[in-house]
Amino acid sequence: MKLPRQFFAPLAIGAPAPMRELPVRLERMIHFVPPHMEKLRARVPEMVKQVDVVLGNLEDAIPVEAKGAARLGFIEMAKSVDYGATGLWTRINALNSPWMLDDVTEIVGAVGDKLDVIMLPKVDGPWDIHYLDQLLAQLEARHKVKKPILIHAILETAQGVNNVEAIASASPRMHGMSLGPADLAASRAMKTTRVGGGHPEYKVLADAAPGAPDAPRAAYQQDLWHYTIGKMVDACAAAGIKAFYGPFGDFSDSAACEAQFRNAFLMGCLGAWTLHPSQIGIAKTVFSPDPAEVAFAKKIVEAMPDGAGAVMIDGKMQDDATWKQAKVLLDLAKLVAAKDPEMGARYGF
Ligand code: GLV
Ligand code: MG
Repeated sequence: MKLPRQFFAPLAIGAPAPMRELPVRLERMIHFVPPHMEKLRARVPEMVKQVDVVLGNLEDAIPVEAKGAARLGFIEMAKSVDYGATGLWTRINALNSPWMLDDVTEIVGAVGDKLDVIMLPKVDGPWDIHYLDQLLAQLEARHKVKKPILIHAILETAQGVNNVEAIASASPRMHGMSLGPADLAASRAMKTTRVGGGHPEYKVLADAAPGAPDAPRAAYQQDLWHYTIGKMVDACAAAGIKAFYGPFGDFSDSAACEAQFRNAFLMGCLGAWTLHPSQIGIAKTVFSPDPAEVAFAKKIVEAMPDGAGAVMIDGKMQDDATWKQAKVLLDLAKLVAAKDPEMGARYGF
């Protein structure tokens, strides 16, 4: 086991020291851009003003013959655009692919100082994080990168889910984790053909009415992702890193996308991926706390400024635990308000 004192030592001579605290940033949507497409790259300067994170995708959905063009396109869009307070991430190819090594070496060499986070797909265990951690430190040292590039794992293999706690705490370079429902479904041999969301056949049936076994019965669809999101959120919260929902593939069903995002938000996730511009507004609505909830949270904090004791508000008991929940909502609302004055006005800040 690594000794506590060594945990925050740079892994290469000349690499920047690992961060002790994660940067405080709003990351409600991680917006995916296919960087080999010039037309979509040209929209990045506009996109930067609308989203919290821009991600250049190099992995799945990029055709094999465009892998090199996507890498070069990402370097071009990283160099040519000012990202300001908007995050710049890339999703590299998987560790066992023929492209991953060049993805990392070329990108860190060219734009390591502009890159905030590398998203690593198909993480099976802490050993995958350790490898990228060491490689990044070597490249940061070689290219004199000033701040450490963080790692975001995709939780999308059965083995990864088994090892989720060890992955979350594998390195101080860990930023967080996203659920990858499409690859996870394949890895688990789930009998679905979707990218996230529910399935009409995953349900529980109400009891039959007495004496009427053939009468129609209500069916209640269940959330296929509840177990994994719960497990991921606990692992991330315990390790002090961030949890996210990943992709929702049915762009025509904004209501279902919103429901999936909201379930993730309520369970502790901070954002989701947006693969289509129509999903940006959905993520913004869902992952910015509801002004009515914020107003109630304010009432709690005003009624018990130091969180001690218990009070009744609108007939509901409040104590240390609800005070802490209120603080989570208020802190998030303050972050949203700092970026979005219109939301700030609705929160009354
Ligand atoms: C994302 O990468 C997924 O597989 O869902
Ligand atoms: Mg995947």
